[in-house]
Amino acid sequence: LREHEEFTKVKNIAKIELGRYEIDTWYFSPFPPEYNDCPKLFFCEFCLNFVKRKEQLQRHMKKCDLKHPPGDEIYRSGTLSMFEVDGKKNKVYGQNLCYLAKLFLDHKTLYYDVDLFLFYVLCECDDRGCHMVGYFSKEKHSEESYNLACILTLPPYQRKGYGKFLIAFSYELSKKEGKVGTPERPLSDLGLLSYRGYWTRVLLEILKKHKGNISIKELSDMTAIKADDILSTLQSLDLIQYRKGQHVICADPKVLDRHLKAAGRGGLDVDVSKLIWTPYK
Ligand code: ACO
Ligand code: ZN
Repeated sequence: LREHEEFTKVKNIAKIELGRYEIDTWYFSPFPPEYNDCPKLFFCEFCLNFVKRKEQLQRHMKKCDLKHPPGDEIYRSGTLSMFEVDGKKNKVYGQNLCYLAKLFLDHKTLYYDVDLFLFYVLCECDDRGCHMVGYFSKEKHSEESYNLACILTLPPYQRKGYGKFLIAFSYELSKKEGKVGTPERPLSDLGLLSYRGYWTRVLLEILKKHKGNISIKELSDMTAIKADDILSTLQSLDLIQYRKGQHVICADPKVLDRHLKAAGRGGLDVDVSKLIWTPYK
């Protein structure tokens, strides 16, 4: 799934240290030039400032008093918390997060203004602090009804269901806004797999409950998933027929059950009762 690597800019930073983890990077990221000669960068896991040497990080950790991302905790369930960080109020944090994320994101250009974005940072919390697991960014105002710009689960945390949690969270925010949403394109291979998985499970469960008697519009209203994404997902499952110039859902219960079994595990759920949030104005 990393076939793009060789076609993109030469990787500059090979490894990073972040909290308890040393992580191999995947792609180029446009760090300021003075960092480009260094094979490993050391990140403060809380403020995301980065330095070239371990001793500098140790000195930093003594004086850094953050123990979680700078922003509002808008969700807490068990040890999982989500923080909303405004890129305008926390510009350096936003920029650091973008530099870090670009090490694992191929197609995205990160030269945009962090002012225009909100960052939703997912953390696992313990007595040492809130440790970042992943995040997604979201434009404050999107003309194209994007509800997510970039999504990342840090490699040590991947394939545990956090990606689908972040995706589900982005749709819960859209529901609170009373809007439909869609991720910014292009999606990476892993991004598409994760979205397809999420869309498939959410839609199949509703179709099963309603015995297939529901329209794409109604599905979209219930889930905040954009109609195009619903159509392409159901088409890929072969649940759409074209009759009299219209797409109609044809969901045989046996076929639904077969697809639901194949859709695999649900991952971590968002407990909406624990989301305390009002849309950005
Ligand atoms: N190989 C095969 N399938 C995979 C893999 C993999 N390495 N990783 C994820 N998947 C698929 C699976 O279908 C998985 O569901 P399953 O475990 O039920 O089979 C599904 O994706 C989601 O798995 P999660 O554990 O919920 O997702 P994860 O926490 O690993 O995060 C993410 C997914 C965010 C895409 C992660 O792979 C990542 O950060 N990749 C690098 C950055 C990236 O590509 N981001 C998306 C760019 S597009 C955009 O930002 C709009
Ligand atoms: Zn710090």
